[in-house]
Amino acid sequence: MSLAVQIRQPGGPEELHLVDVPVGEPGPGEIRIRHHAIGLNFIDVYHRTGLYPLNMPATIGMEAAGVVEAVGEGVTHLKAGDRAAYASQPPGSYCEVRVMPAKCVCRLPDAISFETGAAMMLKGLTAQYLLKKTRPVEGLEHGDHVLFHAAAGGVGLIACQWAKALGLQLIATAGTDAKCQLALANGAAHAINYRTEDFAARVKEITGGRGVKVVYDSVGKDTWDKSLDCLRPFGLMASFGNASGPVAPFAPGALGAKGSLYVTRQTLFTHIATREATQAMADDLFAVVASGQVKIHIDQRYPLAEVQQAHRDLEARKTTGSTILTL
Ligand SMILES: NC(=O)c1ccc[n+]([C@@H]2O[C@H](COP(=O)([O-])OP(=O)(O)OC[C@H]3O[C@@H](n4cnc5c(N)ncnc54)[C@H](OP(=O)(O)O)[C@@H]3O)[C@@H](O)[C@H]2O)c1
Repeated sequence: MSLAVQIRQPGGPEELHLVDVPVGEPGPGEIRIRHHAIGLNFIDVYHRTGLYPLNMPATIGMEAAGVVEAVGEGVTHLKAGDRAAYASQPPGSYCEVRVMPAKCVCRLPDAISFETGAAMMLKGLTAQYLLKKTRPVEGLEHGDHVLFHAAAGGVGLIACQWAKALGLQLIATAGTDAKCQLALANGAAHAINYRTEDFAARVKEITGGRGVKVVYDSVGKDTWDKSLDCLRPFGLMASFGNASGPVAPFAPGALGAKGSLYVTRQTLFTHIATREATQAMADDLFAVVASGQVKIHIDQRYPLAEVQQAHRDLEARKTTGSTILTL
């Protein structure tokens, strides 16, 4: 048996219930993993509220680190006793121990702690594909400006540091002056408090009227329109989240009028669809963390039993960097 967080119907944080669930043996292509730490992500909120529907009752959570207890038939990259971490479907990481597909589970380098592993897999692999694979048609060169919303958050603080390591000038947005300072301290070239300043006007000012080559937008509804105004001709709007709500339908003609813009809606789970792709991206992430170029900030820790409070704080924009649930 394992303690696990279950939701019986979509709703607020009060719908997160601690229950005991049975844990079986891993089948073909599966492992059983005992968690040491669990990552909290905004996608967990979308699962809880029903924005991304799940069959009920459902367990949630997409990220954790721990020790492999058993492996099923055909699993060759992991063995019992291995330290491991993952960002993976299906939801269900808010628990002590689980059986899950092995495909997206990676061995965790000895130099990376369980807590850091749990705090960085989903967010770090996301920063990896955004900065390395989600490129504008005109390419990204040393010194180019990009705009990254919610830059003091989990994905954001990793992206600030990684963009700097890649030679990009990341313009950060964040909801308080203190969060702006945090983004700057982590490698952002500029920071804009988008609750008090007109971020599109500031981006134009910073870029000498040209605009940025890419906007990485996980805020969604509240930032969409102005984000398009920040792009230079042929620029890329990389939408990857909806913290403020989903983006409303829009007319493609607007993209022409604003300079033949490109729009993409990205999700990590397309990028980590195969074991090989997952491992290659994870190796890149492990290397940048091991080199010290990217530090993983665990700014909040909550015992698993206090998961409701963790969700309240994440949704209330009270958190910075990564948040983990401890066991
Ligand atoms: N598509 C993918 O592959 C993928 C993968 C990972 C994450 N994501 C998305 O990336 C975003 C960041 O994820 P995360 O887990 O690292 O979360 P996070 O950035 O730590 O937290 C979300 C942040 O969004 C900002 N925000 C703006 N408007 C908000 C609102 N109305 N309500 C709540 N927050 C709001 C807040 O920062 P400020 O106070 O500074 O505004 C908040 O701290 C989320 O939208 C998530 O869904 C997408």
